Order: sequence, then structure tokens, then C-alpha cells
Amino acid sequence: MSETVNLTIDGKALSVPKGTNLIEAAKKLGILIPHYCYHPDLSIAGNCRMCQVAVKGAPKLTIACNTQVTEGMEVATNSKEVKDAQSATLEFILINHPLDCTVCDQAGHCKLQDYHFEYNAKPSRFLEEKEHKPKAVPLGPTVMLDGERCIMCTRCIRFCDEVTKTSELGMLNRGDRSVISINPGRELDNPLSGSVVDLCPVGALTHRNWRFNSRIWFTKQVDSVCPGCSTGCNVKVAVRDKQVVQVKARYNSNVNKEWLCDEGRYGFHRFLPETRVLEPLINGKVASLDEALTKASKMFDDKTAIFLSPDLLFEEFSLISKFIETLPVKPFTCVQYKKRELSEVEKILVSPDYAANFKSAQNFGLASEDPSTQYIEGIAKLKEGSFSSVWIIGDRGIEEVEGISLPVNSVGFFTNAENNLKPGIVLPARSILEKSGLYLNKDLRLQFIDRLIDFPSNTEPEWRLINKIAEKRGKKLTDAQSDRDLTLSVLNPEISIFTLKEQGGVRI
Ligand code: SF4
Ligand code: SF4
Ligand code: FES
Repeated sequence: MSETVNLTIDGKALSVPKGTNLIEAAKKLGILIPHYCYHPDLSIAGNCRMCQVAVKGAPKLTIACNTQVTEGMEVATNSKEVKDAQSATLEFILINHPLDCTVCDQAGHCKLQDYHFEYNAKPSRFLEEKEHKPKAVPLGPTVMLDGERCIMCTRCIRFCDEVTKTSELGMLNRGDRSVISINPGRELDNPLSGSVVDLCPVGALTHRNWRFNSRIWFTKQVDSVCPGCSTGCNVKVAVRDKQVVQVKARYNSNVNKEWLCDEGRYGFHRFLPETRVLEPLINGKVASLDEALTKASKMFDDKTAIFLSPDLLFEEFSLISKFIETLPVKPFTCVQYKKRELSEVEKILVSPDYAANFKSAQNFGLASEDPSTQYIEGIAKLKEGSFSSVWIIGDRGIEEVEGISLPVNSVGFFTNAENNLKPGIVLPARSILEKSGLYLNKDLRLQFIDRLIDFPSNTEPEWRLINKIAEKRGKKLTDAQSDRDLTLSVLNPEISIFTLKEQGGVRI
């Protein structure tokens, strides 16, 4: 058991493990010590001086990020002396900061604005000409630097040195002439490069492809999970007018810390096809949903295959497995899963699949221990014509089209009208960004994903289409009326949606 240390912070007693620093100790009491350069997953730089606190018996204020707890320590985070130091530090940091807030993408979620409001709120006394630095400098394909806004916290440099170990960034010059720079002959182009924008506490680093697209206060921000692979990184997605306008990492020490891969972050929009399936189709002609479901409900025989998208919800895999139990002959099932080679930097975070929820499929016996081989086998059999009835649940149930022709008895639950597979019956389904529910990541962590975007009318979530088909066959699988009802029906009493949200998922 780790040794614990007793101390008081602002008069409140607490015990924390030996080695904890004062910022983390204060967090346990719900006390935020303001900080810029400190990050729990990077080395301590101790250069911004924003985190100063008073420790009884110490001759002067000390920085909380680089001070570890000691037995009997008495810490004050809100004395007049501390408040004066916070205010003076902010005034100093802001001396050369441009009056850019009106055009800065970070406005509304910037730690300079927030702290100025909370800890300083005084007009500047600086009358001299401000130091000018390079603005709008591309650091690589994804990130833009505004040198004047940088407060030299070095989080971006430390991330590239310590996490990706690619060391693209450095600092040039001294004092108020210091500037972040790309090392000679380099580009900031590692697979996690966009993470430096999340780490930057101010507006110095911005995403090149999302600059100036929306003021943050015009967006709806939703806590969700990236459906890009089975790592299940926690994200905060800003949405405006049914468009994803920015994706940020959400801190989860058990999953992704505060990192995201660029493919996941900048590829979010791929889950929302531009041309939607908005009506059921039978042999390419618009039909009523009832007619399409009735026809589909008869398409099961002893040579049926069900290809499942790895984007489906845990709840949907649960319902599909229940449905299969009602069929006279168990069909072949597999989940679309393709292994790929990862670079050393990708291995820090990314999983070698594009199959975010394949573990849920395995959990309900719909995919084997080796989903990749099983999927390859399924596609080979399909090409040989071994199946007389084929179901594709979700756009990504089958990805390749070459050499594949579906039998007449085939059904696709699709969102993308451009899907080239052309099954006999197409049912209008929903994108994973339009549903809420559960994902099980590669480490069996059950996480809640929240709906990001309103779904178009006439579309149905896959689980409801399955339920309706089961009803046509005389079996009802669920009474759920909404995604949330369905989620509640699969959670056990110890796990609630609230627990999943508050704890960043739980291991099952
Ligand atoms: S660019 Fe941002 S993260 Fe990098 S040193 Fe400047 S303020 Fe810090
Ligand atoms: S590692 Fe996977 S889950 Fe994380 S951001 Fe990338 S694609 Fe998304
Ligand atoms: S957070 Fe402690 S000095 Fe920057």
C-alpha cells in the first residue's frame, strides 16, 4: 500500500499518497489552483508561475506544481499574498499579449480570459509598444502558430519530446523575444500532432482546418467517445448547424489521457455521409417502411449471413443476438474488422482496427476471438455465392465492393445513399453521431457516447428496425421507445449512465 501524507489546504484536512503535488492534492478537495504550464502527464516545467501558493513556514510563495505534499503541511491557496501574486503574474504574462480576442478562435475557452476574469480583472498599466512576433505560421499540415499569443508554457514542446518523442518543436531566443519554432528541416506532422492544440492553454495554436469556422459560444458541446477505433478516446465535440466544427480531447487517465490521433479527430465528419438514405427502397424504388420490413422479415433461410458494422451500439449487438435466438437456423455472423500496421507514434494511442465497438459484438457471441479472419472468411464465402440471404447492418458492415454481388434476398441498413452494394431492400438507418448508447473499448471499458447531431426524420436507429422485423415475425425484443430506454434496459443496477459519464466508463 502506498504511504499517505496528511496536510491541510485552506484549513481543510486531507490525506493523499506520498509524492502527490499540491495542484493534484487541492483538486481532491475541489480547489482549483490556477496553472498554465503544469499538465499531469508531462514533466514539470514550473515556468508560468501561475500556481503560486503559501506554505506555512516557507520564506516565500512556492509553485504548487513542483511542490510535493509533506506531513503536517499547511497550505493557503486564497490568502491576500497569493491573490496578489496571481494578479501580478497575469499582468506580467499579458504585457505583450495582443488584443486579439475578437478574432481569436480560443476566445470563450481560453485560460487567459478565464483567469484574467477570475484572478486579475485589472486594466493593463503597460503603455509601451508591445513586442511583435510572427503570426499565422503553419507548423505542419494540421497546426497553425500565432507567436504573439504564446505564453511560453512549453506544453507543446514537452508533448513532442516526451509523448510522441518526435521533437519537432523548440524555443528560440530569450526573454520577451522567445518564440516557439519548428526545428530546422522539420514539420509538426506526427500522427498525434493536433493534440498540441488541446494542450495549448491559450489561442497560440489552432487547428488549420477549423480556424475561424465558429465562435465557440454558438456551438453545442457534447461529451462523447471517438468511433474511430477500439481505443475509445474521450472527446468533446463542438457542433453547429448539424456540422462538427471542432473535436477536442476530454481527459481520461484510463483511456487517452488528453491525447487524440489526427485521423480520429479530423476524420469525425466521415461518420456523417453527405447524401443520406431517407426512404426505404425495394429494388431501387421507394417503398413504405411497413412494406420493406414485411418483405425483409421473410428473408431468413438456412444460408443466411449477417455482416455487422463495428460502429453499432452495445445495446444493438445485444438485441441482434436476442433476435438470432428467435431464428430457426443460426446465421453466419461477423463484424467488419481489418487489421493495419501502426507506426511507433500511432502505437501510443491508436488500435490496429477501424472497429470501435467490435468487443461488444464479441461480448454477445456475434464475432469470434479472431474477428479479422472471420470477416475475411465471410467476404470470401459471399464472393463464392455461399449465402442465399445477406443482411448488412450498418454502412460499415461490408466495406469493399469489388467482386461482390449480393443475392436477391439482401437487406442493408444504410445511412449513405452512395453505398455501392445495392441490396434488394435498403432501410434508412442512423449514423453513430445521431445515436446515444454504449461502446465497449479494447480494454473492456464500457463508455457512454452521447448523440451529437439531430437525426433526419424518416430514419430509424438499427435497433428499432431489428425490433420491428422481429415483431413482424411474431416476437417483440424490447419495449424501448428511445435510445436512452434501451441503454437503461441493458445496464445493471450498479452501473448507471451517470456513473459512466462521471467515471469516464467502467471496466466490465
Ligand atoms: S504555443 Fe501554446 S502550448 Fe506552446 S508554449 Fe506557447 S502557449 Fe504553450
Ligand atoms: S486513437 Fe482511435 S479512438 Fe482515439 S482518436 Fe484516434 S481513432 Fe479515435
Ligand atoms: S503551473 Fe506551476 S509554474 Fe506553471
